[in-house]
This record gives sequence, structure tokens and C-alpha cells, in this order.
Amino acid sequence: MERLKKALIYDRAVHPERTNATPERIFEVLENVLGEKARAHKEHLQAQLPSLRSPINESQAQFVADYLDKALLEREALQQIIEQLELSEISTAEAVELHHRYKIPVSHPEEDIVPVKGDGCWIMDTKGTWYLDTDSNYSATNLGMANEEIARGLYNQASTLISMKEDRIQIARTRFLKEIHTMMPKGLTQFYWQNSGGEAVDKALKIAKAYTGTTKVIAFKNSFHGRTHGAVAVTWNEKYRRPFGLHNLDWVFFAEFNNIDSVRNLVEKSGAKIIILEMVQGEEAGNRPATQEFVDALWALAKEKELVIIDDEVQAGFGRTAVKKGDWFACMSYNVVPDIMVIGKSFGGGYPVTAVVTKKEISAAMQYGYDGSTFGGNPMAMTAALIATRQMRERDVTGNVVERARQMMEGFKRLENKYEIVSDPHGRGLMVALSLGSPENVAKVQKNLRQLGVKASLSTGPYLRFLPPTVISEGEVNFLLDKLDQAIASL
Ligand SMILES: Cc1ncc(COP(=O)(O)O)c(C=O)c1O
Repeated sequence: MERLKKALIYDRAVHPERTNATPERIFEVLENVLGEKARAHKEHLQAQLPSLRSPINESQAQFVADYLDKALLEREALQQIIEQLELSEISTAEAVELHHRYKIPVSHPEEDIVPVKGDGCWIMDTKGTWYLDTDSNYSATNLGMANEEIARGLYNQASTLISMKEDRIQIARTRFLKEIHTMMPKGLTQFYWQNSGGEAVDKALKIAKAYTGTTKVIAFKNSFHGRTHGAVAVTWNEKYRRPFGLHNLDWVFFAEFNNIDSVRNLVEKSGAKIIILEMVQGEEAGNRPATQEFVDALWALAKEKELVIIDDEVQAGFGRTAVKKGDWFACMSYNVVPDIMVIGKSFGGGYPVTAVVTKKEISAAMQYGYDGSTFGGNPMAMTAALIATRQMRERDVTGNVVERARQMMEGFKRLENKYEIVSDPHGRGLMVALSLGSPENVAKVQKNLRQLGVKASLSTGPYLRFLPPTVISEGEVNFLLDKLDQAIASL
């Protein structure tokens, strides 16, 4: 039973990322696979190995492997036990406990599942249960939850050159620069790579300030731009800003979204030259798109008043909000080009990489010494980005989004007709939401969905939001809609 022993013991040559299994995990896996029958095996092992250590040592692993090999006549069960141990040597309870003990509690932890493996749009947890993912890690894993080709590229890159500071020229970045231009809106040719969306928003604000020689910024009510100091300063929800003294800034003004008069008034009153917006407001507005009329009026106002528009596409970009094939960014679907665009989340295929992209004339305002980044555009991130964006084009992500979005919206409308509590289905591309009447209903439906094999954790007030992987298939959308129907029916 060499494979079972290997799943119990840390093998540095093959899996340097692991440790030996803990007894808690061994017993959990037995229970996952054998249910009630696990108890007898657990009692036997505890009796035979009274000083079972956590994690176990090599001779204990040998004992456990020999015992299970003889005791478990169903080879399929043994196979499942091995696979689950290979995925995690640590139990669910230990993972949750260590999270609470050591993590700074900045966000509400989702404790219902602890994911260990992905396959396309599906995630498996420590219990061996599969769920259809409908969040894409806030639109970061749009190509799915695991990616063999990116894994191979990252292995090759890490084996040759794992990191290189931002101000040194390197080939992984050159390779990506040769390919990425075809996906960009016309005229946005200058890149500055970062590691998170918030960081890229901060840098976009710096570039806009340097270019205009001004500091005032107009953002929008219900906006969300991230958690770094600059990004949170232009984020609407006061709860995110007040604890840090960022709620009464003399350089940030919030206009009504989809209301050009409100923007014009604020521009005239404040003299601001910089505007930042999400073309589809996500986190805080429940996936609410700008109207075409508003976008056209905003771009006309910008022209008239010489404003710089920063378009935050950290969530909306890379096909997520496509309305027609080839709409790699929301701005393309609205037929406008921003002055500065912030891109992020999904173009590393799950690996962290973001960027500010702008026009040559604006980028020239940044001088040597104005900024810098140790990890920005590092070889690992550039390699992941090269492979992920190539896959997006090869897999026709925008074409798929257009089709699946139509399917989702038709399904939502059927639910609206069927159930009293369902209303206001809306969105753009695969950035969609529907109202279930109250946050309580949303929480209940999310719980029901989980029991039906669908993980849907995103919400804004009474809205249940969905950001499924942009590669989701027709069959998977049907599965999601069917389970959503059942989850609402059993409210
Ligand atoms: C529109 C938008 N901008 C910026 C961010 C911040 O990105 P990150 O969490 O990578 O800092 C987010 C995150 O959800 C976002 O939705």
C-alpha cells in the first residue's frame, strides 16, 4: 500500500508543500468515505496506537497503511480515502480553528466549505463534495479552478527565474507584451503591472493626478474600488472608509451613478478633473450596469471639460461583461475608450496580476522615481497572464459569455414569472443578479443552493449576485438554474 503511505507521509522530493497527515484528518477522511462504519476503524487505530502524534510519524503511517489495506476490502473506498488524503493532510476542523486562531479577522470567513481541488467550474471540499462555483473568486478564476497549462508554465518559470524586480527588463514580460495588445481598447498601449486590484487603482489615481496636475477625484455612489488606502478613499460605503479617517476627504466627491446632471454639478462645484467609475457597478450596487446614454453623456462631458476618466475593469474586464463577441472590456461593449483603465483579477487565470493601462500621452506624465514595485509584472505573473489570456482567446470567452448570459437572463425571467419574491433580474454579460426580496431570503437560498451542490456566496442587500466562470457551459448554466429554482421553491 505504497500510495496510501505516501498520502500519509510528507515526501519532500515529490510534495515539498505538504506535511505528514494528522490523526484528525485520517479519521475525518474515513468518516467522509465510510460514514458510520468509520467508527470501528477509528477505535481500532486509537487502541493500537495510543500515542498517535499529530502529525503522525513514519512508523505510525506504516501501521495505518497496513491496517487499512487489510481492513478495507472495498478497493474503491480505499481509493477515495487515498485521494482525499492526497488533497489535504489537515482536517476541516483544524483548518477552521487555525484560521480563527491566527488570521487577522478583516473579512467574514466562509466556514461552510474548505476547498481543496478544482476541476473546471467545480470545486471539491475537504469532505469530498463537489460544488458548482458561481463566484469565480470575485471574478478572478474565470477560466476555472485549476489549470494544467498554467501549472506547467509556472513550474517552468519558477525553475528558471522565479522573480525579478519591476525595473529590470525580463523575457517573460516581453513575451506577454508581444501578445496582450490585441485585446486592448484602441490607444491604450502603456502598461504598469501590479499585484492586486486595489494597488492598481491607487497607481491609476497617481497617474491621473500626475497628468492633470490636480488632486480632486469624482467617484460614484455605490462604487467599489478595493481596500488599499487610495482605492478605499474612492469607494462609496462609508463603513469601509470611516475607521481609517477616509470618510471626509477634501479631494473625493461622490456623484449619482447613471445621472449626468449630478456629475456635471460636482465637476463645476469642485473643479475636479478626474473621474473614476466601474461601468458595471459590482460589489456595492449588485451588478448594476451604466446606461449607454449615461456613458455617452459622461464621455461628452469629459471632452468638454478636459476630464480624465479612469475605468475600473478589475471585475468587469476580460470578457466578463461582453455583450458581443470580442468585447474584452466593458468599455468596448459601450463603444468608448477611457483615458486610464485598471485591469485585474482574471488575466492571470487565478494567479495574482493586475495593471494600469493608459495612453502614451498620459503615461508620459510619470517620471523616473514617481513609482516602483518589487513584484509588479514579475516573471511568474507574466507567464500566468500570457497563458491565461491566450486561453481566453482560444476558448472564445466573449462568445461564450454572450450565449451564457442570454441563457442566464432567460432563466432568471422564468423564475421571476414563477415566484412572487423574485424580481429585478439584471446585469451585463455574466455579471448578473436578481432580487429575492430581502437579505434573509438571499442567505436562505444560498444555504439551500449549497445543499444542492451550488456555491453562491455573493450578495448585495436583497440581491443574489452571480459571477460564474466565463467558461461555464450550457449544461452547467442549466444545472445552476434548475438548482436555483429548487432552492427558491424550498424557501
Ligand atoms: C471594481 C473593483 N476594483 C477593485 C477591486 C479590488 O481588487 P483586489 O481585491 O484585487 O484588491 C475590486 C475587488 O473586488 C473590484 O471589484
